Order: sequence, then structure tokens, then C-alpha cells
Amino acid sequence: MKLDVSVLRLLSKDDFRVLTAVEMGQRNHVIVPIPLVESIAKLKWGGTHRCLRELLKHKLVHHENRNYDGYRLTYMGYDYLALRTFVQRGSITGIGRQIGVGKESDVFEATNEDGDVLILKLHRLGRTSFRAVKTKRDYLRHRNSFSWLYLSRLSALGEYAFMKALGQRGFPVPEALDQNRHAVLMSLVKGYPIVQVHRVQNPNKVYTDIIRCAVRMAEVGLVHCDFNEFNVMIDDDEEITMIDFPQMISVRHPNAKHLFDRDIECLIKFFQNKLHYDPEEDESLECVRPDFDEIVSRSSEGQGGGTGDGGDVCQGPLDVELSASGFQARDRKILSEHVAADARGSEEEAASSGEESEDNVDDEDDIPAYDKSGGGSADDAPASVDDDEARREMARRAEGVADASNQQEGRDGGKDAELGTQAFGQSGQGAPHKEVQQWARSHQRRRVKKQQRLKLGGRNTNKSKNEKRKGGGGGEFVF
Ligand SMILES: Nc1ncnc2c1ncn2[C@@H]1O[C@H](COP(=O)(O)OP(=O)(O)OP(=O)(O)O)[C@@H](O)[C@H]1O
Ligand SMILES: [Mg+2]
Repeated sequence: MKLDVSVLRLLSKDDFRVLTAVEMGQRNHVIVPIPLVESIAKLKWGGTHRCLRELLKHKLVHHENRNYDGYRLTYMGYDYLALRTFVQRGSITGIGRQIGVGKESDVFEATNEDGDVLILKLHRLGRTSFRAVKTKRDYLRHRNSFSWLYLSRLSALGEYAFMKALGQRGFPVPEALDQNRHAVLMSLVKGYPIVQVHRVQNPNKVYTDIIRCAVRMAEVGLVHCDFNEFNVMIDDDEEITMIDFPQMISVRHPNAKHLFDRDIECLIKFFQNKLHYDPEEDESLECVRPDFDEIVSRSSEGQGGGTGDGGDVCQGPLDVELSASGFQARDRKILSEHVAADARGSEEEAASSGEESEDNVDDEDDIPAYDKSGGGSADDAPASVDDDEARREMARRAEGVADASNQQEGRDGGKDAELGTQAFGQSGQGAPHKEVQQWARSHQRRRVKKQQRLKLGGRNTNKSKNEKRKGGGGGEFVF
């Protein structure tokens, strides 16, 4: 997704005020009714309408007039709110070129006032996640309400927390610098993903270093879950750095052993097929396939049998740190459900045809959004309003007016009030989000059409699209 940061210069304080008002309104509404945006933003002389038009022009909000007139944030609107927060905190002073397009993220270079090059990772869950539509539907069915923006925020929160905790334990990871909404700021790793390397001087050492990392992580109670050639960086001295941690899970997760073994198998295959080094034939290796159960029982014995409160074995110290960083057990549970669904999805995908596995979500902005928790935490919400008191006042209005508006919608037929109040984490029960269901259905229709097109007229892979994307973020922008 293109991030046109030059638009930041064109946006006024009022525009950001209204964008923040939409974000706050989304705490209680999937689509925020215009009167609610107006009452939160409290701009005079129709200022809110003017700003909404401007925001819509730049695709920072999405307009919908199905059941009532309203707006919701797009990923780009969310990007801008996070960027502005980083600028206001002094964490960054500029954005550079896009250096990576991940499965579920866009990665940019950024600079700070010392001129250091940093990495800004914007999480974009939902971009490719509906590849295995059926699995995802099953997953959604068990969620009360759902939001990709909310999951992206959790993902960023998780990545930041894990990166910080692992860094403090001496793991080779980038330095976690800042986090806001769905964005994580980290130090630049001077190297390349090992998937881009065709030959290493010392494969035995590189393999051993990577496996040691996986083992040490299991010893502190974690499984990476995506520890493969795409998420291990290697530098010119063949030192490795791990990246990409939002999906990490506890060793006590029911799927932990399966995912640990899957990570190791992927790595072995990569070394065999791409680096032409077969760990299974190297007798000098200490360990080719670490035994997950043995690591867990050894390390739990070493810690006196766990946390003592019936919690996760080996999780004591990390749990304390993760809680302190705001990444709570509930967040981890939600994310690990997403990981488990993803893992099942990938396996189904692998079993299905190659064509299908390359399918993608066509319209990245066409995401279903939002839920109560998705509007951002106390940390997130005030990002774009300068004055503290004004921010608090806006937050109070958002709560108060939303309640009144929900009641009004209840009288008006209740359909959208249901969407608005069936919030993630509020009751934990109930039907899946109707918008998500609709979206999944329309996505599946698009996918079927796309497959028909492919059958009729040759293959149209996502490669060119990705290349286009990579080209899209070029140039440097100083705030
Ligand atoms: N700290 C960093 N320093 C340098 N490059 C980085 C850093 N973090 C990420 N990148 C680059 O961005 C790419 C994508 O990052 P990352 O793996 O974290 O995202 P992702 O969405 O999970 O991607 P994928 O699904 O492909 O694994 C990486 O392959 C790497 O090239
Ligand atoms: Mg990755």
C-alpha cells in the first residue's frame, strides 16, 4: 500500500482533529455517523464537513451511506495518525523509501533528528489473510466482533513487546524504539534476509546460530512461529538477526510444539535446497532437530517448575515484562488465535492448488473495520490533538455522545446499533460481525471471478503488483 506522506503537509490541525474524532467514534461504531463526528470534533461553521471532504479526497477515511451516513478510518488514515504521534513524540523527523512489503506489513526507512536511519513497520493484518477463506471464516465465527485495524494494533503492540523483551535478554533482534497504533519503530539491521543469499562461507556456524536462537527462545518460554529464511537477516560477517515477532506464542500454547517443529523443518529445507548444505549430513553439528519437549521440561526444571501460579512454565520473567509494556495476556490470546487460524490456513492453502495460494486481497483499503477496542488505547487516541485538555474533552464527548447515539440507533431499528455495540472483548459471545461476513462473501466472489479470469486468459500473479508496490514508496519526506 502506497504511503503518500506528502499529504501530511496538506492536512490542517482541524483535519487531524476530525480524523481523530472518527477514530474515537469507532470505539462504539463500525461506521461513525456524521453527527457523532461533529459532536466529538466540535468545529464551528460546518468545519467538520469540510475536513471530512478533505480526508475523503486523500483516502484517509471511507464514506458509507448504506444504512446511515457515516465514515470510518482507512489504513492510510490510521497510518497518518501513527506517523503524527511519532513526529510529536520526536521519535522520527522524516520518512524514506519503502524497503519491504511483507505478507502483513509495509516497511519503510525513517530518520530521527540525529540523522539515524530507522525502520518503521506498519502492520497490515487482513491484507492476505483471507487466502484460506474457509478457515478464516471459522475463525471469525468464534469472534464476537472483529477488526483488522484492531488486530494490526495488537500485532504491533506484540511485536514491540517481544522485541524489547528479547533484546533485553541479549537475543540478536533490532532495538525496539517506539510503538503507536499499528506502527513499530525499530533500529535498522545492516544485512539482508537470508532468503536473498545464495551462498554462505560457513553454513555450519550460521545454521547452529539460528537453531540456538530457536532453542534459547523456547527456553525463555516462546516459539517464534514464523522463524524461517524470510525472518532471519544475515550481515556481511554472517552474524544473524531475528525479525518479525508479532505472532510469537508461549511454549504452553497447544500448537507450540507443532509450530516449533514446523519452523525447524522450514529452515532445514531452506539450507538443503537453497544453500546446498544438508544439516542432516553434517556430523559435526551439535544438534540438527532440537527436541521441543526436552527443552521445555529442562528449562521448567531449571526454573523450579514454572511460575508457581499455574501460569505458563518458563513464562515468569517474560510475562512480567510483557504486562508492564501493556501487552496483556488477553491480547496475546487474541493474537495467538489469529496465528493458529493462519497456520491452519497456510496448511489448507498448501494442500490446495498453487493458483489459489497466490490469491490476494484485491482492494487493500476495502477492509472491514472497527470495534470498540479498535479506536485506540488511551495512549493512541490523543495523537493528533495538540492540547491535552482538548484531547480529554474530545475523549469525554466521544464516550457520552456515542452512548446517546447508540440509543437513538436502537430506536431507529437497531441494526447498526448492534454493529456498533457488539464490540470486541465486550461480551465475548455472539454472532460474527455482519460487515465482516459480507466482506468475506464479496471477497470470495471476487476470488472466484479472478480464478475464472485466470483460466480464461493466462496467469496474472501478484508479482507485478508487489513490484509496483515496492516502487510506490520511493522518495524521502521530512516533516
Ligand atoms: N529492522 C529491520 N532492518 C532492516 N530491514 C528490515 C527490518 N525489519 C524488516 N525489514 C525488511 O522488511 C521486510 C519485511 O519485514 P517483516 O518480516 O518484519 O514483515 P512481514 O510482514 O512479516 O513480512 P513477511 O511476511 O514477508 O515475513 C524484511 O524481509 C526485511 O527485508
Ligand atoms: Mg517477515
